[in-house]
Amino acid sequence: MSFSKDFLWGGATAANQLEGAYDAAGKGLSVADAMPGGKIRWQVLGSDDFDWSIDEATYSYPNHKGIDHFHRFKEDIALFAEMGFKCYRFSIAWTRIFPNGDETTPNESGLSFYEQVIDECLKYGIEPVITISHYELPLHLAKAYGGWQNRKLVVFYERFAKTVLTRFHSKVTYWMTFNEINSAIAMPALSQGMVPSTGSRVQQNIFQAWHHQFVASALAVKIGHELNPDLKIGCMIIYATTYSFDANPINQAATMVHNQAFNYFCTDVQVRGEYPAYTQRLFKEKGVAPLDIHDGDLALLKSYPVDYIGFSYYMSGVQNVTAKDAETVEGNILGGVKNPFLEASDWGWQIDPTGLRIALNDLYGRYQVPLFIVENGLGAYDQVEADGSINDDYRIDYLAKHIQAMGEAVDDGVDLMGYTPWGCIDLVSASTGEMSKRYGFIYVDLDDHLNGTGNRSKKKSFAWYQQVIASNGEEL
Ligand code: BG6
Repeated sequence: MSFSKDFLWGGATAANQLEGAYDAAGKGLSVADAMPGGKIRWQVLGSDDFDWSIDEATYSYPNHKGIDHFHRFKEDIALFAEMGFKCYRFSIAWTRIFPNGDETTPNESGLSFYEQVIDECLKYGIEPVITISHYELPLHLAKAYGGWQNRKLVVFYERFAKTVLTRFHSKVTYWMTFNEINSAIAMPALSQGMVPSTGSRVQQNIFQAWHHQFVASALAVKIGHELNPDLKIGCMIIYATTYSFDANPINQAATMVHNQAFNYFCTDVQVRGEYPAYTQRLFKEKGVAPLDIHDGDLALLKSYPVDYIGFSYYMSGVQNVTAKDAETVEGNILGGVKNPFLEASDWGWQIDPTGLRIALNDLYGRYQVPLFIVENGLGAYDQVEADGSINDDYRIDYLAKHIQAMGEAVDDGVDLMGYTPWGCIDLVSASTGEMSKRYGFIYVDLDDHLNGTGNRSKKKSFAWYQQVIASNGEEL
């Protein structure tokens, strides 16, 4: 297995899930700040009358405190450096820069915070990889404008992207425009700032919002490349390898259609710069009328495609339309039919390393642009032993098998830039708001109510990943 000499080994996080300090230094509220903790999260957000109110008397809001990375980032980045990270993927909280999203002047203390984070990474030779928008739209843009279905958000995002790209382009080469842009179909609240009371159940709104995000993303690519043609600005999708339930052509065709709608639609636009040939049929099936597309939008999409595809990969899925009684599984956005050949995580996500090799070959074969696995990992319950050790062999096993599959894909000829496992330090879960769903190499002593010391300690996987990086993926 031969990873390139400059392969970007690292880890990934998102501001809203680890920084905490949700109202410090002029920060405004984001949609994540209005998301209750616990499995109740989706019920609340998906209810008919949810209006983004924060009800602290009834719910807890774990994103408000996170793991206090805002104050402890130096300690955390020192641990990443000790593991040998070549890069660190994190996001810039839009609300630290533009607290409501529609201001015209940025908040200098927010910019200076990220400048410090970037400088701390560079001090150790760690390349920052920045997600411009990771599930943390300013709450005001969701409440007053209805989220991304409103065209005005393109202007606000453009201003935000221009501000951070201008400030940091000389220090940061790698960027992504939107986290998991294709997740909107299942999670419009996180992805597009839309809930049922503002029309998230209407497919027309979701696709219109996507169009606005595509335009906004292309504008970010334009701004970035004008500042520095060497910047690498990617899109970011959630990719789930999808199998047909059986060899029945009906299920095979359903798999093909699912792939078009879920795995390919956004990348087709963002990489190829145009709406794909199946758009008309997809719109017809979903009852979507022609979108409101302004003069110049399509030319912009064509002129400013992304430089690479960043994607998350956690699990695979199964498409089935014929077997009505097939057993089903959970998953944060996938669910679907149980695959009898796969084990599942404590949260029911089906573990499928071979699916990652298939994903890499599929995406590279379709687009021929570099790929970057910017999320992967196992959310699991960890046990702290009496001596303080955490023996997370299950996590090592998961990651080792996925890295092995990546190596095979590289040998297959795939151009893979790097690998940043999700939640390299324990943080708040996006789907459930739990702390106990842990992904990290670094344990953080906080429970689901964020009680605890917040102290960091190294799990067994810490030394293991250190050795993986030091051997450039040879020693698993
Ligand atoms: C991805 C998101 O969907 O999966 C992350 O980009 C998220 O924000 C990660 O945390 C893992 O999901 P969860 O629900 O286990 O936190």
